[in-house]
Amino acid sequence: MLRVVVLISGQGSNLRAFVDSCADGSIPATVVAVGADSDVPGLEHARHCDIPAFVEDLEPGGDRDAWGARLGDRIADFAPDLVILSGFMRLVPPAFVRRFAPMLLNTHPAFLPEFPGIHAVRDAFEAGVTETGASVIVVDDGVDTGPILAQRRVPVVDGDTESTLHDRIRIVERELLADVVRDIANRETAIEEN
Ligand code: GAR
Repeated sequence: MLRVVVLISGQGSNLRAFVDSCADGSIPATVVAVGADSDVPGLEHARHCDIPAFVEDLEPGGDRDAWGARLGDRIADFAPDLVILSGFMRLVPPAFVRRFAPMLLNTHPAFLPEFPGIHAVRDAFEAGVTETGASVIVVDDGVDTGPILAQRRVPVVDGDTESTLHDRIRIVERELLADVVRDIANRETAIEEN
């Protein structure tokens, strides 16, 4: 069983789907802890499932490197095989990336390298594209620039709002993440050191 720590910054709907799929055996992994950068609603599901939940906040103007070291220590306490940024909206510092990569993944609501950054769905919507997508990548020092492990197109349909589009993208993200973690667990995907 892969030991996974998941980091979130919001409602954590993808986290919930991931936890549920681990619990019902469809993903051969165990979520050993969920962390966040503030006490967000998504932590509630972890607590409800008796999964340890922790908050490591970066104060405004705080030292990002020191925060990254504290966050890394909290994660390392759970001895994970894999760390997943699932809607974690902070840039992690380079030392954090070095500590956990390449077993540090990020889900992103766009077909990278299109629309990197924290407003990917809004940016795609406002650009008027007819399709966008979802990606699962290995985190590197850039903003959504790491190696792409899986991605799929998602069409923008008539009547879409940013919110309806994002909800359909989330469904694809969940499937991609499940596939990637299954492949890693089954050693069908070897993630190389850079
Ligand atoms: C997901 O779509 C995730 O890809 C995105 O935040 C959403 C979190 O949804 N992450 C990013 O945009 C990171 N750049 P959730 O909290 O409902 O799981």
